[in-house]
Amino acid sequence: MLNVVITGGAGFIGQALAKQLLQRGALTGLSGKPEPISRITLFDTVPANDFGDSRIVTIVGDIGDQAEVRMLIGQDTHSVFHLAAVVSSGAEADFDLGYRVNLAGTRNVLEACRVQEILPRVVFASSVAVYGGALPEAVTDQTPQRPTTSYGVQKLMGELMVNDYTRKGYVDGRAVRLPTIMIRPGKPNKAASTWASSIVREPLSGVDAICPVSPDSMMVCLSPRRTVDAFIRLHELPGEALGVDRAMLLNGIPASAGEIAAAMERNAGNRKIGKVIWEQDAHIQKIVNGWPRALAGERSTALGFSVDQNIDEIVRFFIEDDLDNQIRSLTAS
Ligand SMILES: NC(=O)c1ccc[n+]([C@@H]2O[C@H](COP(=O)([O-])OP(=O)(O)OC[C@H]3O[C@@H](n4cnc5c(N)ncnc54)[C@H](O)[C@@H]3O)[C@@H](O)[C@H]2O)c1
Repeated sequence: MLNVVITGGAGFIGQALAKQLLQRGALTGLSGKPEPISRITLFDTVPANDFGDSRIVTIVGDIGDQAEVRMLIGQDTHSVFHLAAVVSSGAEADFDLGYRVNLAGTRNVLEACRVQEILPRVVFASSVAVYGGALPEAVTDQTPQRPTTSYGVQKLMGELMVNDYTRKGYVDGRAVRLPTIMIRPGKPNKAASTWASSIVREPLSGVDAICPVSPDSMMVCLSPRRTVDAFIRLHELPGEALGVDRAMLLNGIPASAGEIAAAMERNAGNRKIGKVIWEQDAHIQKIVNGWPRALAGERSTALGFSVDQNIDEIVRFFIEDDLDNQIRSLTAS
């Protein structure tokens, strides 16, 4: 029987991961074989949805608080998916909060794992924000990590700690460098990439969306379905498959803002859709121009991680998984 903790469990990916783990029902345990999941604890500053499933426990707390994280992980946690974070522009706007949540929070998780009697598998959500400066046309496994934001620095330090705690035998860690995951349901968040979801989500719900970047601006995208599969696949891999560098670049598909908007229109069916209004914001445009235009990590491909077929598939997944709820929440508010 296996106990799982998801930090940031009320968030976009945390909720999708919890739902998928409930359906799957098992993960590789200490025996190296699949074991049934008995408990999934969703830890977040806001209450998480428990999907009406008795295997879910929800805890409201702060990852930056060492004592709370010690209580959370306790002595019987087999697997931790560490997703709690202040996202990019949030960490840029509040320097202290970014370091408290994204750096000290990650250290708290690793320390709480370290004092356990069992060796837990820890999967850490990192980001392609670890890359910055003058980038090649496609980022590869060999591209140096030179982050240009506090968020990117904090994620890179998190990856290095995962490597070090693993090397010392305190955890069996892994980190995944994620591209932009879309389409995020709900409302826009503080990420500089939030428009990529908005220009699909809002028009499909019948609402206009402002796009703050030019139609030729590039974004590397991945659907939540592929992302959740990647978290689980990374958890299931034997540590030796990764070697000493436990941080893996996960590929996505490159799409321009114009292509994303066109895919939204192509897949709208006979829905009455809102407009995409192109209204450039120089600050956001500058940030987006500094991001990788393509990702070509060979390691993840060799390990069997897959990307979406095209941007249309990402739009269709949103329509199948989230659009009805999205429209319902708009009508309710
Ligand atoms: N979504 C993306 O495009 C993307 C891309 C790269 C990396 N990531 C990383 O993946 C992870 C999950 O991303 P997401 O899109 O689900 O983000 P999200 O913002 O939806 O979820 C993060 C969750 O962390 C929680 N949180 C924030 N501060 C906390 C604290 N002090 N204590 C406990 N919980 C706290 C938030 O309440 C939120 O529910 C994050 O670590 C993020 O940095 C996401």
